[in-house]
Amino acid sequence: MASQRTLSIVKPDAVAKNAIGEIISRFEKAGLKVVAAKMLHLSKEQAEGFYAEHKDRGFFGDLVGFMTSGPVLVQVLEGDDAIVKNRDLMGATNPQEAAPGTIRADFAQSIDANAVHGSDSPESAEREIAYFFGSDEICPR
Ligand code: PPS
Repeated sequence: MASQRTLSIVKPDAVAKNAIGEIISRFEKAGLKVVAAKMLHLSKEQAEGFYAEHKDRGFFGDLVGFMTSGPVLVQVLEGDDAIVKNRDLMGATNPQEAAPGTIRADFAQSIDANAVHGSDSPESAEREIAYFFGSDEICPR
């Protein structure tokens, strides 16, 4: 598998728990490299735009409210099979269903506050990375 990039977000609940370092450590131990990163407190408009594909879902308002409730760390991860590797490290969306040892099993409370986001396809990764980063903000390693 060729090297790939994916967008990762450490969500407000995990930032509030001071778990940024432990989460990034899992990415690095799995062979993923951080090639871009920034702390942001998302505006309502930024969160709505990022999650626009879910705008008709019943949970959209809660999701936007949660993602704007505190700062997040947005990052670009790079490595072999980065999209699937990151999703495997994250675990299932609902932490009650996440496999033991995954980030969501260890750090997430509920499906509303589930610690991390990761792109789910190459198309999403391209869109999501461009949503937060200009090409001059990404440092290939
Ligand atoms: S889908 O159908 O696979 O696209 O949906 P899913 O991946 O399960 O969820 C998409 C994002 O919505 C969040 N989500 C929720 N937020 C609040 N409340 C509820 N009930 C809820 N269900 C799902 C979920 O965490 C996903 O966020 P990201 O940031 O993409 O992981």
